[in-house]
Amino acid sequence: MKPPRNTAQQNFNAAPIAEAAASGSVAPMHAAIILAAGQGTRMKSARPKVMHPLAGRPMIQHLLASCAPLFQRVLVVVGPGMAELEATVAPHPTVVQHERLGTGHAARLAAPALQDFAGDVAVLYGDNPLITQQTIALLLDARRAAGLVLLAMRPADPGRYGRVVTDDAGMVQRIVEWADATAAERAIPLCNAGVICAPAADLFRWLGGLSNANAAGEYYLTDVIAAARAEGRAVRAVEAPEAELRGINTRAELATAEAEIQARLRQAAMLGGATLIRPETVQLAWDTALAPDVTVEPHVVFAPGVTVAEGATIRAFSHLEACSVGPGAVIGPYARLRPGTAVGEAAHVGNFVELKAARLGAGAKANHLTYLGDVTVGAGANIGAGTITCNYDGLAKHRTEIGEGAFIGSDTALVAPVRVGAHAVTAAGSVITEDVPDNALAIARGRQANKLGRGMKGRRR
Ligand code: UD1
Ligand code: CA
Repeated sequence: MKPPRNTAQQNFNAAPIAEAAASGSVAPMHAAIILAAGQGTRMKSARPKVMHPLAGRPMIQHLLASCAPLFQRVLVVVGPGMAELEATVAPHPTVVQHERLGTGHAARLAAPALQDFAGDVAVLYGDNPLITQQTIALLLDARRAAGLVLLAMRPADPGRYGRVVTDDAGMVQRIVEWADATAAERAIPLCNAGVICAPAADLFRWLGGLSNANAAGEYYLTDVIAAARAEGRAVRAVEAPEAELRGINTRAELATAEAEIQARLRQAAMLGGATLIRPETVQLAWDTALAPDVTVEPHVVFAPGVTVAEGATIRAFSHLEACSVGPGAVIGPYARLRPGTAVGEAAHVGNFVELKAARLGAGAKANHLTYLGDVTVGAGANIGAGTITCNYDGLAKHRTEIGEGAFIGSDTALVAPVRVGAHAVTAAGSVITEDVPDNALAIARGRQANKLGRGMKGRRR
């Protein structure tokens, strides 16, 4: 799926390719192995951890997006019975890790698929999706000056991260997992972020020699550092901010990661020329595309697939999903735009109006308390308060067409399929079951009878 031009996601991933290209020499080949076989027990969820969404798409897709421009090949290690995950990462090939024997074991499973690969291989963790393309590019670049490189961070709370043990010269010696660490080692502030890179042949040789004699009884990927040092290779750590490198193991960490991604998306949206009056209250999706001079009032939610054109205003408490808003249009407050909706230039959609698969022509207005589903509304048409398209008869959905310049009286029920002609009028309170010709007035309601003297005074007598 290709995100629309000028999305926030692109903005915060844009810079590094140029940098990498500018660094001169012929770019080496790179392959990525992404580990995602764990169920993520600490999430207490029926779905695999990496399928949990951030900014409206599975976290693993954020990582794949950052990897895509840098790696010629990407391979994902999944657990058994994770068909949905395999479909999500397609067309990237997957390898199934049937037994969860550790990160080192999982990485080793990619060896047969990369047998003929002569470049550098990076191993990344699927539960580390905030890492940017820039940072991965820096790591790949650093590999030219070392036998093995890894990403490290100094988190405010180092918790149970693996600790990076360095010598006096700052050269990395090994990584010790928290469970295996001494008190002195646990006091080390430098933590392993979980991304390493080395030449393919070296990496798979080191992985082949791992042992599981440790606290967890697992094959630790992190033990390849000691293996590289044992062969006398230089190992270097590239440091990056915790905000990018923190892993997601719990729902609370998922929420922290969401906050980080939202902050980036909002920043990118504002750099792109949108005004967010109270940015911290606006929920964006990974692909939300806001054109310059769009104004977003507080407490607006953008689900995936929304495009807003120049000068449009999205007023407070509106919810938009898979829809487009034309230039200068005004949406809300309290409007709901559901999938398949396209609001035309300078059209108005007011409070408590719900649109589903609705196409509103330029300058059309639906300002109050209305449901428009499976409908085409012509340019300049006015939809009165309380108008309802009765698009569902209990079995199937039907379309309503409203011509340009039409005037739909308040509280009109349009029983689809039905067509109201251009410049036609429906009387307030009408139930429209038959097509209305162009420029006609349709009245479809009970006639009023005034019984004189039968008001309250008359009834009491
Ligand atoms: C790992 C690192 C730790 C580092 C931390 C950073 C190891 C041994 N430890 O710990 O040094 O500080 O990440 O976040 O690598 N996975 C598999 N198969 C397995 C085990 C894990 O595919 O058999 C996958 C998981 O799905 C996950 C990733 O590898 O996406 C990391 O595994 P996890 O158990 O979360 O490692 P941490 O304990 O966080
Ligand atoms: Ca983890």
